[in-house]
Amino acid sequence: MFELFHVQNRITWQREKGRGALANWKNGMEDIWFGTKSKEYTFHVKDVMSRRKVIAPYKVNGQPKDWEETENGNYRNTYPSNFWDDISIPYWSMPENTQHPTQKPEKLIAKLILASSNENDIVFDPFLGSGTTSVVAKKLNRRYIGIEQNPRYCGWAEYRLEVAQKDKEIQGYVNGVFWERNTLALQKKEKNKGATQSV
Ligand SMILES: C[S@@+](CC[C@H](N)C(=O)[O-])C[C@H]1O[C@@H](n2cnc3c(N)ncnc32)[C@H](O)[C@@H]1O
Repeated sequence: MFELFHVQNRITWQREKGRGALANWKNGMEDIWFGTKSKEYTFHVKDVMSRRKVIAPYKVNGQPKDWEETENGNYRNTYPSNFWDDISIPYWSMPENTQHPTQKPEKLIAKLILASSNENDIVFDPFLGSGTTSVVAKKLNRRYIGIEQNPRYCGWAEYRLEVAQKDKEIQGYVNGVFWERNTLALQKKEKNKGATQSV
């Protein structure tokens, strides 16, 4: 990676689940290496803002400082860091779930695609599995190419791509921002209220 790319960052994705180990700490994270071909590269930080609950609402002259009051609580949209603790692996009740043993969450891939590409760009995944990268690319109006050696996984990917023709929803990404874990009910409430403000 260091030979072929300009390494810009290492992202740590904190997975909720990991296989327990008897003689060690179980692995609860994965690394994502962010590399670019050139020193000039696409990075749309405003498209990947994180929506967080405000714990200590600070006001100036009686007005919220960098946060907003909503009927569902106090929130602010913050710049995303290289520590991702807001993404669960797909579990059985989620519409995106397949039986692929190492399926990635659509929310995770959405962050990468939104930050590092423009609409109509081509997104390439040479290890496509159940199709997550192509599905998310399609939902976000990118073109896509994927390679997968297992015919069953290819079938799942084709099925998901067909569903994505009509259903553009990406769980955890609502009104142009990424929501914390376990906020599904809140996301549904906010969904029809239109785009949220970035502060
Ligand atoms: C970690 S999984 C990818 C999971 C995928 N991101 C998803 O969300 O479903 C890696 C995939 O690469 C496939 N694979 C491994 N070696 C391959 C090769 N040489 N050519 C094509 N596919 C390959 C495996 O069958 C597996 O489905």
